[in-house]
Amino acid sequence: MRSFCRRPKEVFVFVFILLFVVWLLVTIIEFSLGLTVTTEDLIATGEILRNGRQLKAFITSSYYYPTSKSLGDNAIALVMSINLVWNPVIKLAPFLSSDPSELVIMGSNATASVIVRAPYVRVTPHEVCQIITIFATAQLLPNVKSISMLGYNGLAEIPFTMPSYTKREVVVCTSPLYVSEQWQNFLLAVHIYRKFGAHMHLYLISSVTPFYELMKEYEKEGYMTVQPWVKVDFPGVPKTIADPYNQIEFRNQAASQTDCLLQFKESARFVTFLDLDDVLIPKVAPTYAEEFQKIMDGKKKMAYIFYHKENYDAVVARDSSRFSLKKMIGSLECKHKRETGKIVVDPRNLNYTWIHYPPILPNGFQKYEVTENVITHLKTIVWTDEKNESGRALTEPLYFDNSTAKIISSKYVASIEKEFQRMIRKPRIRKIFAKLPNIHYFTDLVVKCYNNRYYRYHYLGRLENIECPGPQLCEFVQHPKIKCTHVTATHIPMETLYPITYYYATGTHFINDIGCYAH
Ligand SMILES: *[C@@H]1O[C@H](CO)[C@@H](O)[C@H](O)[C@H]1NC(C)=O
Ligand SMILES: *[C@@H]1O[C@H](CO)[C@@H](O)[C@H](O)[C@H]1NC(C)=O
Ligand SMILES: *[C@@H]1O[C@H](CO)[C@@H](O)[C@H](O)[C@H]1NC(C)=O
Ligand SMILES: *[C@@H]1O[C@H](CO)[C@@H](O)[C@H](O)[C@H]1NC(C)=O
Repeated sequence: MRSFCRRPKEVFVFVFILLFVVWLLVTIIEFSLGLTVTTEDLIATGEILRNGRQLKAFITSSYYYPTSKSLGDNAIALVMSINLVWNPVIKLAPFLSSDPSELVIMGSNATASVIVRAPYVRVTPHEVCQIITIFATAQLLPNVKSISMLGYNGLAEIPFTMPSYTKREVVVCTSPLYVSEQWQNFLLAVHIYRKFGAHMHLYLISSVTPFYELMKEYEKEGYMTVQPWVKVDFPGVPKTIADPYNQIEFRNQAASQTDCLLQFKESARFVTFLDLDDVLIPKVAPTYAEEFQKIMDGKKKMAYIFYHKENYDAVVARDSSRFSLKKMIGSLECKHKRETGKIVVDPRNLNYTWIHYPPILPNGFQKYEVTENVITHLKTIVWTDEKNESGRALTEPLYFDNSTAKIISSKYVASIEKEFQRMIRKPRIRKIFAKLPNIHYFTDLVVKCYNNRYYRYHYLGRLENIECPGPQLCEFVQHPKIKCTHVTATHIPMETLYPITYYYATGTHFINDIGCYAH
C-alpha cells in the first residue's frame, strides 16, 4: 500500500484495470444471458449478478376468495406468465444462484396487514417456450382491500377480482378464439351445451365482427359468457429479456384454462376445457352433470377424468340463410382417427391445469381415462353451397366404435333445432345473422401456418425442430372485406423489482379497428 501511495500513477492504472476487468466480466455475463444494461440496471448490477437475470411476470389471474372449500378462506390465487425458462444455448445457471422459489405477497384490510410467502408451481410441463405459466396461492386477511407483490427494493400493488359464487352444474371453458370465423361451430356448441345442462364460458381474443356480435347476443340471452383474453406484454422490457411476442405457448391457453378453473372453483360442480371445434355430448346419462357423476362414482378422489377426441368431418351451409343445426349434425362423419383429448374436473380437486391435463396428479388424487364416451372433434368443416338438402330426414351421426350407437338422437336434434330457430327469429339476432360471413379466409391461414410451422415436426417426429408455438407464429395478411373485433387493454409499465417485476393490464375491452391479428 505504501509503495503504491508513493506512486499515484500506478495506483490509478491498477484501479483502472481492476474496474475494467469487473466491467468486462459483468458485460460478458450479461451479454451471454441476453441481458441489456440500462442505467437503472447498473445500480442494481449486484442484484442481477446475485439472481442471474431479471424475471418478468405478467399476472393473468388474481382471484380473492372470501370463502373457499379448497383454498381456505381469504385466499388469493394467482396465475402468471413468467420468463423462467433458460436459454438452452447458454447454461450459466450453475454459476448463479437459483431463481426464487416463492412469491412474497402483502394483503391489507382496513385495520391490519399481513405478509405471506407463497411457493409457486409450474403449470407448463415442458421448456419449449421461454415464458411459462405458474400458479401460486396463499391465505391473506378477511375483507382484503389491497394486495401487493413484494421485492427487495419495493412493492407493486396489483388488481384482483372475486371468483364467481353463482351456483352452476357444469361450466365449459372454451379456449381463446382468435381471427375466428367459425360461427357454425359456435352455434352447434352453444346449443348443445345449453341442451345438456352446461354454461359456456368463452375466452375471446378476436373474431370476425358479425360473429362477435352474435356471441354478444347469446351472452345477453344468458346462454354463455364472453371473457376478453388480453395479450401478455411487458412495456419497456427488451425482447432479449422476455419475449411475449414469440415465447408463449398457444396464446397462453394453459393460463386461460386455469383462469376458468379458478373463476368457477367455488360455484361449479364440474368444469371442462374444450376448444370451439370440440363438442362433448353426454352418452351414459341425459345431462353432463349426471354423466360425470356416474363416471366418477365409486372411484377414489378424482382430480380429473380424461375424454379422448374422435375426429369427424362436417358439412355446413356457407350462407347463413340456409344454415341449420339439424343439417350440420346430420352431416357429421367419423374419420376413425383419435387425437389428444381434454379433461373434466371437480374444481375442488384441482388448482391448475395445462392445455390437455395438469402437469402432475395432485397428491392423494386419481385420474380416469374415460372409455364410456368420446369428444366429437370437428376436424374439418366444409362450407358448401348445397341447395337441395333442406327437408331431408336427419341421418343420426354414428358413434366412433362401428356399433349402431348414435352420438345424438333425433329427438334431441329436433329440440336443439327448434331452440336455434327461436333464437334467430329474435329481431337483433336476425339482423346479425344476415351479415355472418359466407367465406372463410383466416381459418385457412391458421390451419396452413400451424401445419407448416408446428404440427409437421410433430408428425415427422423431428422434435428438435419444434419452435415455441408463440402468439405471433403466424402472420395474417388482412382481407379487404373481412373485419375483426379484437380485444385491447392498457398494459402498465412497471418499476423494476428484484427478484421479479410484476405486470398487469387494465381497461380491457373490445374494439373493431385493430384488424385481424393473432393476439
Ligand atoms: C383485518 O384482519 C384482521 C386480522 O385477521 C382481522 O382481525 C380484522 O377483523 C380485519 N379487519 C376487517 C375490517 O375486516
Ligand atoms: C389447492 O391448494 C390448496 C391451498 O394450497 C391446497 O390445500 C390443496 O391441497 C390444493 N389442491 C390440490 C388438489 O392440489
Ligand atoms: C342435389 O341432390 C341430388 C340428388 O340427391 C344430387 O345428385 C346433387 O349432387 C345435389 N346437389 C346439387 C347442388 O344439386
Ligand atoms: C371402424 O371401422 C373403420 C373402417 O371402416 C376402421 O378404420 C376403424 O378402426 C374401426 N373402428 C373400431 C373402433 O373398430
